[in-house]
Amino acid sequence: MSNWDEVALPDGWELRGVEETDSTNDEIRRRGMAKHGLVAVAERQTAGRGRRGAAWLSNPGESLTFSVMLRPDGPKTLWSRLSLAAGLAVAEALETCGIEARIKWPNDVLVGTKKICGILVEAVGDHVIVGIGLNVGSKSFPEGLKATSILLETGREWGRPEVMGMILRSLSGWSGEIEKGFPNLIVRIQERCALSGEKVRLMSGDRMVEGRVAGIGMAGELLLETEQGQECFLQAHEVRLCD
Ligand code: BTN
Repeated sequence: MSNWDEVALPDGWELRGVEETDSTNDEIRRRGMAKHGLVAVAERQTAGRGRRGAAWLSNPGESLTFSVMLRPDGPKTLWSRLSLAAGLAVAEALETCGIEARIKWPNDVLVGTKKICGILVEAVGDHVIVGIGLNVGSKSFPEGLKATSILLETGREWGRPEVMGMILRSLSGWSGEIEKGFPNLIVRIQERCALSGEKVRLMSGDRMVEGRVAGIGMAGELLLETEQGQECFLQAHEVRLCD
């Protein structure tokens, strides 16, 4: 198991490293105490999950799979911004590794068109669990999967505790900004928006919408030019690039 004690945590945050769990999001939830800044990291997840109930598979030792409990000050309506804050924290850590990363709204991190990180945000009562799966040392992926890793992008090994520390420190800062100073965060997201100018199809509720992405608005919403004019979406189940 990695030496998770080496992770340089933000002040007051606490980390629990386990060899195996079903999902680090559930590991955190089971701990019961909704402590802001509680982090769970696992070498292996037996039931890791992605968005829309998909399985999240990763090889032990190659990925970072961890979850963070956050108790934002702001109202629940602003919590969806936390997935943007998490994406930005990952993108910034990747930039420190020398990788130009972009954010695919609302919460994937891409290098070029390849996915390097997925984020699953789950609200539970008055707190939020942010689960992050980042490909760090993977050398290959199953055929047909458009994915990459820090190792593949930089050609060198990176210590997972070091990368995790970078993400957590950035996340700690940005998660405190979702209510005040959000423009600082949103401008950085806009600069890294992977979808700007792309034609996409998305599901919002039970409505399927197609349009060209005009960008990200100041509330973190996706701006889409559709046949009806410009529409904005604060949440969507799925955003797919049109061929
Ligand atoms: C997605 O892209 O669909 C989101 C993937 C999120 C995966 C992470 S790994 C750590 C945490 N535990 C889980 O079961 N899922 C998230």
